[in-house]
Amino acid sequence: MITIAIAKGRMQEGALSLLARAGIRLSDEAVNSRRLALMDETGQYRFIFAKPADVPVYVEHGIADCGVVGRDVLLESQADLLLPLDLGIARCRIVVAAADAQAMTKVQGMIRVATKYSQIASAHFGARGIPVEIIQLSGSVELAPALGLADMIVDLVETGVTLRENGLTVVEEIAESTGRLAVNRASYQLKSYEVGRLVKALEAVV
Ligand code: PRP
Repeated sequence: MITIAIAKGRMQEGALSLLARAGIRLSDEAVNSRRLALMDETGQYRFIFAKPADVPVYVEHGIADCGVVGRDVLLESQADLLLPLDLGIARCRIVVAAADAQAMTKVQGMIRVATKYSQIASAHFGARGIPVEIIQLSGSVELAPALGLADMIVDLVETGVTLRENGLTVVEEIAESTGRLAVNRASYQLKSYEVGRLVKALEAVV
């Protein structure tokens, strides 16, 4: 049996439908329940549903052998995991956004950047030699520029609706993000048959 941690939220539906197409199914009763750990119909796979940022933690510690989680979360976590497959689901972009498209040249003094991706934001501005003050938030970061907490944000954009409806525009693109299959290093060796079978089954439907 192998355990797969699924990131709740934007990733969950795409992950479950991809797994179903690969022949790994949860019963409707299980999916509709509030249980956070579930077995698939064959009893070969156990699923755990976790907050996206916790998925790399479960996989790195070997509590889950595999995880389905966005590249955004993986870049931010810097966990030491194997990433054998881009699942192509929940496609979005990690961007710098501000109220003014020219904000990068207009802000006086140290740029204040609100984000829940502090590692990604620090690396992005650090690589370009731009000193910034990172303001760590847990969500709804689009509020920060309008309320005067920050000059810019680093956040995910999928449809662009949240940015638009909060008067923000993309200033720079940092990276693309899609759902990835992450695998624990030890599981990759010790459960090579089971993990290999999962990777092949998913590869066939991606
Ligand atoms: C993400 C992101 C944006 C929104 C972008 O939020 O932080 O707020 O989705 O989607 P859009 O471009 O389609 O409008 P998420 O749902 O992950 O919740 P959060 O507010 O907790 O970050």
